[in-house]
Amino acid sequence: MIEPVRIVEVGPRDGLQSISQPISTENKKTYIDLLTEAGCPEIEVTSFVSPKWVPQLADAKEVSALIKRDDDTIYTALVPNKTGLETAIDNQYQSVAIFTAASETFSQKNTNASIKGNFERFEDMHPLWKETNLRVRAYISTCWVCPYEGDIGAEAVIKVIQDLIDLGIHEISLGDTVGKATPDDVEYLLNIILDNWPVELFALHMHDTYKMAAENITIGLGVGIRAIDSSTGGIGGCPYAPGAKGNISTETVVRICHEQGFDTGINIDKLKLAGTYIQSIIQS
Ligand code: HMG
Ligand code: MG
Repeated sequence: MIEPVRIVEVGPRDGLQSISQPISTENKKTYIDLLTEAGCPEIEVTSFVSPKWVPQLADAKEVSALIKRDDDTIYTALVPNKTGLETAIDNQYQSVAIFTAASETFSQKNTNASIKGNFERFEDMHPLWKETNLRVRAYISTCWVCPYEGDIGAEAVIKVIQDLIDLGIHEISLGDTVGKATPDDVEYLLNIILDNWPVELFALHMHDTYKMAAENITIGLGVGIRAIDSSTGGIGGCPYAPGAKGNISTETVVRICHEQGFDTGINIDKLKLAGTYIQSIIQS
């Protein structure tokens, strides 16, 4: 049997969030519908964060109402706090992503709170996501390198993972927010993590600033990781990580997976249509 790899398409959220030119709600809807038609198993549609912090995604409710939802695709929304969680539930999400960091400075810049402060927000959200039976994935940004603090030690990441697991999180996505982790760095941290927890709990979220993301996800696949975040066309960056480029492109991840004999369920020709479409919108 061919082993599946679940690609989490984050282009509509991570890819678009730092683009300053206005992108219309209709264009976002078309992009997301093309991703659904390509067979993406999971799409992070948008975020319910403060529109003052991330103006590009201020139309999150409208986008969520307009997109066509397919039963075979998981639609996820990124939420920072209980307000965001409540809005996601009101907008028909059964899957949400919460986020924190291994670096204190990045956490402050990204969420205006310490890592502890992030966990206070998660504690506040916890009863609601339990009661509503939501699927919750969590991002840990800056697992290897922070744009403000430099190298991050494995013990900081381990601490955050343990705290997330204590909250009953379903999946933890390990973020190379600035794309500076080398393959050796990735292998080193993954070996420590996988000595302690089952591989099924983890996904990789690699930004491709220095073109190491493809090699890094290959290392992840080699140690058994079967969930990879990526962005069609490799669009985007992070508004709070200066200089960081987009995620590894979904086209590249699909190619690597198919070359290595994994099944992604994604139709590459249809995916390319989505990539060409959003790139043409961004460049217009
Ligand atoms: P805050 O300013 O510290 O706190 O924001 P607040 O709770 O006092 O709220 C301030 C204002 O935001 C208020 O409005 C709230 O109502 C509003 P005002 O009274 O000023 O008009 N507000 C909200 N509005 C809509 N939805 C909400 C919400 N919450 C508060 N959920 C907060 C704290 C976290 C909300 C803010 O810092 C924020 O929104 N930050 C955005 C962070 C973000 O989206 N970053 C990018 C995504 S993370 C990422 O890209 C990394 C990742 O890709 C992994 C990786 O690559 O490493 C995931
Ligand atoms: Mg990211």
